[in-house]
Amino acid sequence: MQNWGQPTPPTPYLLLNPARLGYLCPMYSADETQLYADRHTTPESPLLARLNRETHVQLLYARMISGHAQGRLLSMLSHMVRPWRVLELGTFTGYSALCLAEGLAPDGVLHTIEQNPELEDRIRRYVREAGQEQQIQLHIGDARRIIPTLPETWDLVFIDADKINNDTYYELVLPQVRPGGFVLIDNVLRSGQVLDSYVVKPSDKDTQAVRAFNDKVQADERVENVLLPLRDGLLVVRKK
Ligand SMILES: C[S@@+](CC[C@H](N)C(=O)[O-])C[C@H]1O[C@@H](n2cnc3c(N)ncnc32)[C@H](O)[C@@H]1O
Repeated sequence: MQNWGQPTPPTPYLLLNPARLGYLCPMYSADETQLYADRHTTPESPLLARLNRETHVQLLYARMISGHAQGRLLSMLSHMVRPWRVLELGTFTGYSALCLAEGLAPDGVLHTIEQNPELEDRIRRYVREAGQEQQIQLHIGDARRIIPTLPETWDLVFIDADKINNDTYYELVLPQVRPGGFVLIDNVLRSGQVLDSYVVKPSDKDTQAVRAFNDKVQADERVENVLLPLRDGLLVVRKK
């Protein structure tokens, strides 16, 4: 007979079988999951591995680089879209540009904008080594000034510059994204600081801006969106 409203007593099987308990209460850590995911993700090319390592050895804020797992995801998404025109905001050392360029259509071009001129030589060197000089066009300067000078219709946009300006970039590029085109926005989790349980300091304008931006996209009738909790969070947006 069914025992409605009464808690079901634990069965000896559940109490004594640790494997069964493990199934009910998974105890794996996020780090362990990421390591496992990395081991089941196609490795970086030798060139990307060298750029990744060089970035970590020689540059401050190296953790800004997309790196292995996210780089492979960007490449995979680009292969799925087969874009003709890609726009990237925030080149850094060129890692994500090289990954996104892997999926370009045969006559496709990726424009990438970086405001720090000290990064230019390294980016150009790696683009040259990758044999992508025809496919990757680097612009040095402020993305807010350069975007309006590019008369393109974008199939895919990757927003990965200063996070406080995510909304400015989004509004600048969205009219130029073709219907059915995609916008990817990086670091939308801000190491978990966007979560409701986290108390944001009034002085932390970046986190406040990212929270407001994520909420805005969620309510934006012009698009559909999925937030992937990979690494620091990648927001995938499709223009209707
Ligand atoms: C997170 S890093 C980009 C990482 C890169 N996309 C990757 O995955 O390897 C952000 C970059 O955006 C650049 N940046 C910041 N504000 C910018 C702006 N207004 N215009 C262009 N680049 C900007 C920074 O100089 C920095 O190199």
